Amino acid sequence: MSEQSHPFFFTWSAQKGAKGLEIVDGQGAHFHTSDGARWLDLAALVYQAHLGHGEKRVVDAVVGQAQALCLTLPSAVYPAKTKLAELLLELAPAGFSKVFFTLGGAEANENAVKIARVFTGRHKMVSRYRSYHGASLGALSLTGDRRRLPFEPAVPGVCRALDCYCDRCPFGQKLGECHLECAGHIETILELEGSGNSGVAAVILESIPGANGVMVPPKAYWQRVREACTKNGSLLIADEVLTGFGRTGKCFGFENFDVVPDLITVGKALTGGYGVLGAVLVHERVANYFDDHVLLNGLTHYAHPLGCAAGVAAIEVSLEDGLFTRAAELEAPLRTALLALQSRFPERVEFVRVIGLLAALELKTDEAEWGLLMGAIEGRHLLIHSVKATRTVVLSPPLCISEADLLGGIEQLGNAFAEIF
Ligand SMILES: Cc1ncc(COP(=O)(O)O)c(C=O)c1O
Repeated sequence: MSEQSHPFFFTWSAQKGAKGLEIVDGQGAHFHTSDGARWLDLAALVYQAHLGHGEKRVVDAVVGQAQALCLTLPSAVYPAKTKLAELLLELAPAGFSKVFFTLGGAEANENAVKIARVFTGRHKMVSRYRSYHGASLGALSLTGDRRRLPFEPAVPGVCRALDCYCDRCPFGQKLGECHLECAGHIETILELEGSGNSGVAAVILESIPGANGVMVPPKAYWQRVREACTKNGSLLIADEVLTGFGRTGKCFGFENFDVVPDLITVGKALTGGYGVLGAVLVHERVANYFDDHVLLNGLTHYAHPLGCAAGVAAIEVSLEDGLFTRAAELEAPLRTALLALQSRFPERVEFVRVIGLLAALELKTDEAEWGLLMGAIEGRHLLIHSVKATRTVVLSPPLCISEADLLGGIEQLGNAFAEIF
């Protein structure tokens, strides 16, 4: 860790004492830091490195694109842009017909909101409390979690709904005995917000809330929300920025629930982290509207060639290596290992939630112990996501990780628990 003063800001931190890993290279699920340590990446960096580190096929594609064509206009047409849009529409459910490119996930969500507003003639949005949709002001207004609070009032018109959080149901219900009060709640909000131009333009949901703790909903939840949107003339936006491209064992997270949204937003693993890119995938029933109406969305670096080349290569490598289904294959061993960890520390591991290669452990610790635990994990050179506010550890290893490395990593996590608990 580098603790000296740096001429740039560290994200999400008070700057004094802030530090970062000095990563020098990597291969597969491992990377090295400048002190010679070899880390196991159980986080896919920030959920983007599905293909792992040092993926030569993607690097070569980016280098080739840089040499062939690096600078273009937002309106320019060139092979990587067309190819990437085609690939994304092939991966999307039938009926999706257009792609709008952005530079990342937050911008994808902001552009999805603009499209939904213009298309519906409505301005209100519904999102959930335990959600994250990005750090730009509009995306932060959709975000429900604590990161929004210091910036209010931000963009007006967002109604927030309670979550589908079965382990701590906000409606006091138990899964299996409940009536999906959480989905009924969104339905009621849509009804009470009115119809016509006063109604809700769109509901935006992470298909599975990721960074807030992997609260996997029952299938019927998404289906009821879909029905409620259709009934009330609101669009349904699936935020797949974290869950897209195989993380949950399907290409998109919503495919676990047999529903089709109207708009899909992606980022992060779209390029495997090898390029800077996001996108909004738009169903034809919305896209067609813009045949005769001006689409008032644009960016200087729209569909940047390096991002598009990385996106094409990342998708091709994922398909070639079967990465989208690999997470489904590794779900069972991951769950077994985490449940074993829970039975080893039953007083400490309150909940375990897993889907594909995305998992959360909700822990019981005080603040001091939490700090010590994070130190013990870091000391073992394991990269994980830690959410101090909810005492949750989130795991999202690269999809190319071997089963042995995955299970070895969980064993190391168990050793860190044993050291502190
Ligand atoms: C679900 C979700 N949506 C949107 C974003 C924002 O993406 P970006 O950081 O690329 O703007 C994130 C980032 O963590 C995310 O997890």
